[in-house]
Amino acid sequence: KQKPKAVIVIFGVTGDLAKRKLFPSIYRLRQNGNIGEEFAVIGVGRRPWDNDTLRDHVEKSIENSFGMRENLKNFTSHFYYHPFDVQEASTYQTLGTLINELDAEYQTDGNKIFYLAMAPEYFGTVANQIKENGLKEGTGWSRLVIEKPFGHDLESAKKLNNKIRAAFEENQIYRIDHYLGKEMVQNIEVIRFANGLFEHLWNNRFIENIQITSSESLGVEERARYYDHSGATRDMVQNHMLQMVSLLAMEPPIKLTTEEIRSEKIKVLRALRPVEKDQVDENFVRGQYGEGSILDEKVPAYQHEAEELAASNTETFVAGRVMIDNYRWAGVPFYIRTGKRMTDKSTKIVVEFKDIPMNLYYENKTDKHPNLLVINIQPDEGVTLHLNAKRGGTGAFAEPIKLAYKNTGIDGVNTPEAYEKLLLDCMLGDGTNFTHWDEVALSWQYVDALLDVWENKTAHFPNYESGSMGPKEAEELLEKDGFHWWPILDE
Ligand code: BG6
Repeated sequence: KQKPKAVIVIFGVTGDLAKRKLFPSIYRLRQNGNIGEEFAVIGVGRRPWDNDTLRDHVEKSIENSFGMRENLKNFTSHFYYHPFDVQEASTYQTLGTLINELDAEYQTDGNKIFYLAMAPEYFGTVANQIKENGLKEGTGWSRLVIEKPFGHDLESAKKLNNKIRAAFEENQIYRIDHYLGKEMVQNIEVIRFANGLFEHLWNNRFIENIQITSSESLGVEERARYYDHSGATRDMVQNHMLQMVSLLAMEPPIKLTTEEIRSEKIKVLRALRPVEKDQVDENFVRGQYGEGSILDEKVPAYQHEAEELAASNTETFVAGRVMIDNYRWAGVPFYIRTGKRMTDKSTKIVVEFKDIPMNLYYENKTDKHPNLLVINIQPDEGVTLHLNAKRGGTGAFAEPIKLAYKNTGIDGVNTPEAYEKLLLDCMLGDGTNFTHWDEVALSWQYVDALLDVWENKTAHFPNYESGSMGPKEAEELLEKDGFHWWPILDE
């Protein structure tokens, strides 16, 4: 099989994403032999760096991720630095010349990736300059990879999309949602559709509810400016959480092509029940962390993390009841919950099946051991099925047992793994694990309704302790429906 070849242009190469994810990913692609020697990376940034500065920087990033390595020089020699000014056409023209030179030198067949890993306010301008200065032209393919945030709400996302679409076709645009690169997120589809066991139970007749938790123990860290403007709803729900909902709820695709899978996911997003203004507080809970402790270490409240956060009204936690009004899911709540400074770093999906119709085998009337299918996204990767079996000894009482599969072959949280896969997909022209504009738009439309209400009403923050699982209202949200959150840490 031919290995993909390309010149990869990274805008914002001096930033955090390039250092933490992109360089290590490219390195792994090369190490694993997914790409050959036919690649070059042009790092574009505002700082007055040169090739050597960039190459040292890449070397450090790789050693940070993987420990000391021999012979990095051959790898880093594929990296070139190009200083630029975002608004200045001439710096794009010289970039074009460099692309062509490297294309000839590394025999990349004219293929180009433009990766926007920079402040989102420049996305539109850069896309436009790329087009205006002819950088997309030539014999091979040209693709645009774009990081989040894709807009701040539906309106701004539309404007951004129009700008980008004026420069690139939809099928040349790869909008990153890095959750779609995670092994176990990709596995949702396979677990559902490659087993005869689950799919005919996967509906409102047999499933009571589905719970998706993505908790983090870290706080806002160095990102106060971005995060306070964004909050947990924009940062996690609009993208990662709703993407997981759509994968859990979609109909089986008729073929494993990007178009077919996407169109099923889009249908789910179209079926989300819009949250009416007067129903936001009934269905959603927002929170902001106060002080507390994580692993016995005292940590400050959100509002004390940075000066500009004092008196902030931004949520660092959201929980909600998402309803899907279609034939399969009518009446089944999808509970989502995500936040910073929670007990642990964990992403987990719990599918709760309806319990047995008659309480014959439970010792106490109040017992409830429904079957659960738990999909562990991170840090552990695997699947656990909770069943009931006879308790040893006399009597016929049931006790809960677990069938557990743990994937040990793949690294856990925060490896460049997801990015590595996404970058390779992009080089191969496979857009399946990227978000289509329709998904972005429908997700914004959904969360805008919440944000409109919240942004016009001051919250009583902080309302949860750091190191906890969020405000008590998040527990009550499920209790009102007769459910509770299944613990995230018992696997
Ligand atoms: C990012 C958010 O999209 O996802 C961050 O901007 C968040 O705030 C991160 O920490 C979580 O990703 P992961 O892969 O660590 O679960």
